[in-house]
Amino acid sequence: MSDLKRCSWLVSSLGATVVAANLAVAGSQIPNLQPFPNSSGAARTFSAQGQVDTANPFFQSLGSNGRACVTCHDPSTGWSITPRLVQARFNATGGLDPLFRTNDGTNSPNADMSTVSARRESCSMLIERGLIRVGIGVPANAEFELAGVDDPYGYASSSQLSLFRRPLPTANLRFLSAVMWDGRETQLDPSNPDETLAINLRASLLHQANGATVGHAQAAAPLTPQQRQQIVDFQMGLTTAQTDDESVRQLDAAGGKGGTMRLLHQPFFLGINDPLGHNPSGAPFNPRAFTLFDGWKGSSDPQRQSVLRGQELFNSKPIRMSGVAGLNDDLNVPEIVGTCTTCHDTPNVGNHSAIAPLDIGVSDASRRTPDMPLYTLRHRVTGAEIQTTDPGRALITGKWKDVGRFKGPILRSLAARAPYFHNGLAADLGEAVDFYDTRFGIGFTAQERADMVAFLKAL
Ligand code: HEC
Ligand code: HEC
Repeated sequence: MSDLKRCSWLVSSLGATVVAANLAVAGSQIPNLQPFPNSSGAARTFSAQGQVDTANPFFQSLGSNGRACVTCHDPSTGWSITPRLVQARFNATGGLDPLFRTNDGTNSPNADMSTVSARRESCSMLIERGLIRVGIGVPANAEFELAGVDDPYGYASSSQLSLFRRPLPTANLRFLSAVMWDGRETQLDPSNPDETLAINLRASLLHQANGATVGHAQAAAPLTPQQRQQIVDFQMGLTTAQTDDESVRQLDAAGGKGGTMRLLHQPFFLGINDPLGHNPSGAPFNPRAFTLFDGWKGSSDPQRQSVLRGQELFNSKPIRMSGVAGLNDDLNVPEIVGTCTTCHDTPNVGNHSAIAPLDIGVSDASRRTPDMPLYTLRHRVTGAEIQTTDPGRALITGKWKDVGRFKGPILRSLAARAPYFHNGLAADLGEAVDFYDTRFGIGFTAQERADMVAFLKAL
């Protein structure tokens, strides 16, 4: 696309960010469906409250360090943050923006924050990868102990491992089956006989909102029940998706069913398309979980055809899965031939519709980059050892079998919020597809890779 065309269609991404920040400061509103530009078009948010109400406590500093929820969940970046947004804030404030706090914005709480260049160095994970330091210790009753720590920032220990993670979006939450990458904020409804469908979403989010304020925003006192409810009502009302794509343009045009307003009406219930037999309706798993672009069959537009081919690959390209903890071990099947939708099964949304933390190998020692801490865990009985950059669910349950397991996130509005995976391992959607190609030996052709990326960008 020519610069001129891009300009006439969308304002610059940075410009939109500044607008959003100004609106937040002024306490005014962001109109429903205001476009927020990103690298492949624009995403838009619809709020059930009639507009994105920036007077909500979500936008207010409720702790002691100047941060609000919006500090890390920004409407201009798919309700997460991106390195580009972080860099703009760093440059505008010399690293004094409340985002750059030592409790979790720096590589270590002991970071040197005395000068601009010291701050830049101390916040490198946040600035370069959009990662927040989540500190979680090994639970007292864990089946394993921490046998070794290789932390480039010299801080992590058994009482607090430094885990570098991406902020998850605070929109489209009604589709969640688990809260947080490791599910640690998932509160269960004990009356539900099927534990994999038992999330009490509202209770989870009310608890999470308070935890985020006490943790990220270092509040001395808990939020009032009213503040928690206002935040949760606000978040639950947000629906967001890519709506405009620079190559196919409107994603809901000419029979396409992409975009925010279609997502608003997408039916969902827990287990709706679970492949492991937890669908309460009894309906069998349908691997054709994505149907957004079916209407473009027969389209003469080559770009629309590419998106449609990507959707077909996502629904049907065979993937031979082995060594996936949470799948092969739980089912006791050494190899399962499935598709992307075996794990991304929620129709037209793509998270797992039931609780299913899985280890696809993102935090494997083999994929460690030098800026990541590496942990050696030792099983207390067998003495077996595993090296990982993030034990994931195992730090919550204490179970050896949960090492490296994370939830499969919602796959909408992806283009707004690179990088991907819990630790930002994939800088862009091409790298995310390459991860799967290597991990499972899929053998995508260059055309298939391009089609898959075109599809993921259109979500
Ligand atoms: C300093 C950055 C930061 C701030 C401030 C922050 N968050 Fe988050 N948020 C994160 C990170 C990082 C995660 C993922 C952490 C994980 O899974 O371990 C997350 C996850 C979440 C999730 C989970 C979404 C999902 O799909 O499971 C919700 C909901 C959320 N935050 C809401 C809030 C609310 C509400 C506030 C304000 C009270 C807030 N956050 C403040 C960084 C932040
Ligand atoms: C075996 C289950 C499984 C299969 C198969 C699978 N995924 Fe995933 N996917 C996951 C899990 C689990 C995560 C989160 C992993 C993490 O961050 O550690 C994830 C994360 C992602 C993300 C990152 C989303 C974000 O917000 O960061 C993308 C993109 C993605 N998957 C696309 C695909 C595509 C494309 C395919 C098919 C080629 C595929 N997945 C196949 C389980 C799976």
